[in-house]
Amino acid sequence: MNDVIYFDNAATSWPKPSQVFEAMKECLDEYGANPGRGGHKMAIRADRVLFEARKNLSKLFHIPNPNDLFFFMNTSGALNQAMKGFLQPGDHVITTSIEHNSVRRPLEFLKKSVGIEVTYLENQLDGSIDLIQLQNKIKGNTKLIVSTHASNLLGTIMPIGEIGRIAKEYNCRFLVDAAQTAGIIPIDVQAMNIDMLAFPGHKALYGPQGTAGLYVNPNLDLIPLIHGGTGSHSEEIEQPSTRPDRYESGTPNTVGIAGLNAAVKYILNTGLEQIHSKEQKLVGQMIEGLLSIPGVIVYGKHSIENRVGVVAFNVDGIDASEIAFILDQQYGIAVRSGFHCTPLGHITAGTTIYGSIRASVSYFTTTRDIEYLIKAISEIAEAMASGTEE
Ligand SMILES: Cc1ncc(COP(=O)(O)O)c(C=O)c1O
Repeated sequence: MNDVIYFDNAATSWPKPSQVFEAMKECLDEYGANPGRGGHKMAIRADRVLFEARKNLSKLFHIPNPNDLFFFMNTSGALNQAMKGFLQPGDHVITTSIEHNSVRRPLEFLKKSVGIEVTYLENQLDGSIDLIQLQNKIKGNTKLIVSTHASNLLGTIMPIGEIGRIAKEYNCRFLVDAAQTAGIIPIDVQAMNIDMLAFPGHKALYGPQGTAGLYVNPNLDLIPLIHGGTGSHSEEIEQPSTRPDRYESGTPNTVGIAGLNAAVKYILNTGLEQIHSKEQKLVGQMIEGLLSIPGVIVYGKHSIENRVGVVAFNVDGIDASEIAFILDQQYGIAVRSGFHCTPLGHITAGTTIYGSIRASVSYFTTTRDIEYLIKAISEIAEAMASGTEE
């Protein structure tokens, strides 16, 4: 354990609940075999833990059949599988102007390589979208709407229930990037008409790095991104059609998924309402504190409604990276600075010069951590304004 005050939870969460370590250690100590690849007791136990993790995640996201949920190394892998496995030449996709590069880059790649068409909605300065504009952009060849559930820059929550209703009405498929909301905001794939849901295990679900997942509606058959050994149907040369094997070739991250399973149980026991309301209070405290410092600009909504615990800000006229460096070196505070893998988001927010400082909370952040951050920013801003900071 070190004495860092960690505000980089939007990149990956830290610390993790102790149950996560224990489950990973138990896996390595007692049943570190290859699931689905052998009939022996250790392999069967490993397989059972994978299924239990699928079941617990399905409970969290209201997925009727756990076998419609596939494991990936990260959200980017899940999003690539969703878009590259689904989109065909000539298809039209509508997405937002606050997407992470994990959505935008695959779409731009498919635009060039396959010949899909992409429309970006014009998000407001605070990241919000106009649902009428979305409806107006839908055309005969619109096959997919892709939206982040919450901006990784501004924290703004998108109205995914409403978008799902529109997608259903116009017979489009709906893909949600829940990288910043899974484990914080309730997600119901059935009620929200979500056809594909990509989520990380390593952010607000508090699992280890190397875990993520993709839910795919059973009436949607994607082309697998990776073909290979699944442990099942080993005598056949074709990729099996059975789920989840069709999309999970190769040895899985059993140790990581065992940790994720423990983490999801922790989330289910704690309850999303409790987690979200604690994070809202912390964000309210952070925004209020930041806004009280002369020269500090906070981007996105200044209220705690419709936002997650990601706060982007700058000290006017000062390079975000310089401030992050001082926070790290002099105060032991870890934030992210610069550009946050969302060039579109930075254009939307008007932060294209230095990017921004991004401080993101977790359920384990304390009010004292926020007080310390505010004190540090206040001292740095004052020193910079008076020219005493070297
Ligand atoms: C909104 C959003 N989408 C996708 C990703 C990519 O997640 P991963 O690092 O798990 O691939 C991130 C990561 O920060 C994100 O914030």
